[in-house]
Amino acid sequence: MINGPIGIFDSGIGGITIYNEINKLMPNESIIYLSDNLNSPYGNKSKEEIKNFSTKNTNWLIEKGCKIIVVACNTATTNSIDYLRNTYKIPFVGVEPAIKPAANNTKTGVIGVLATKGTLTSNLFNITSNDYCSEIKIIESDGKGLVELIENGIFSGEKLEKMLKLFIDPMISANIDYLVLGCTHYPLISKSLKKILPRNVKILDSGIAVAKQTKFLINKNKLVNQNDKSESIFYCNSTTSALEKVLEKNSIIEKI
Ligand code: DGL
Repeated sequence: MINGPIGIFDSGIGGITIYNEINKLMPNESIIYLSDNLNSPYGNKSKEEIKNFSTKNTNWLIEKGCKIIVVACNTATTNSIDYLRNTYKIPFVGVEPAIKPAANNTKTGVIGVLATKGTLTSNLFNITSNDYCSEIKIIESDGKGLVELIENGIFSGEKLEKMLKLFIDPMISANIDYLVLGCTHYPLISKSLKKILPRNVKILDSGIAVAKQTKFLINKNKLVNQNDKSESIFYCNSTTSALEKVLEKNSIIEKI
């Protein structure tokens, strides 16, 4: 178990933004990444469906011998992490929109949150935003269609920017100074976001925080890999093309 891999899952390639931070922080750990791209996007699915996908992904990763599971998807975390923690003994790390640092540091008193409908309508997101944002204003947008575009390998260009403007312009008009990326796919399009946003707006994602929390839990549970060797394997249950686009050339990608 100690030498087992870290399991990471997402509805597609978004979780690679989390994988990158975890691999940077803990290069000695093996990682198994699961892209459930057959069922992507999760963002417009019901809570029950999202819970079922999370359960299936968790079972699959546990069968592969994973010692800890990182739910590298805001939609899956906000709709199923309590259920997962209550159902399995294995430690879980989730990812949630980084509202707290944005709320603590905003000067204008207005922050933007770009996340999926599934995340924005979840109880967990609403509890967190009520806890941290009673004094400030949140402008939300559900980024409809963005995950599909990103899964098709579109990270820049006119079509994407036009779409982003629809989500971001109302936030700019409301004078946000922080934009919280509440979906792990969105850091992949941060270049396009920067082009649209005024210079004073800072973009926040949760990647580094999730990697630090994963390391903390691995240490706490005495699960540090004792082997000299480590490797990362990336699995998906539909086309491999999106993973090929975001990973280094020699990465091990398997279709299941
Ligand atoms: N990466 C997932 C998230 O963080 C995308 C959700 C989706 O598949 O719509 O929410």
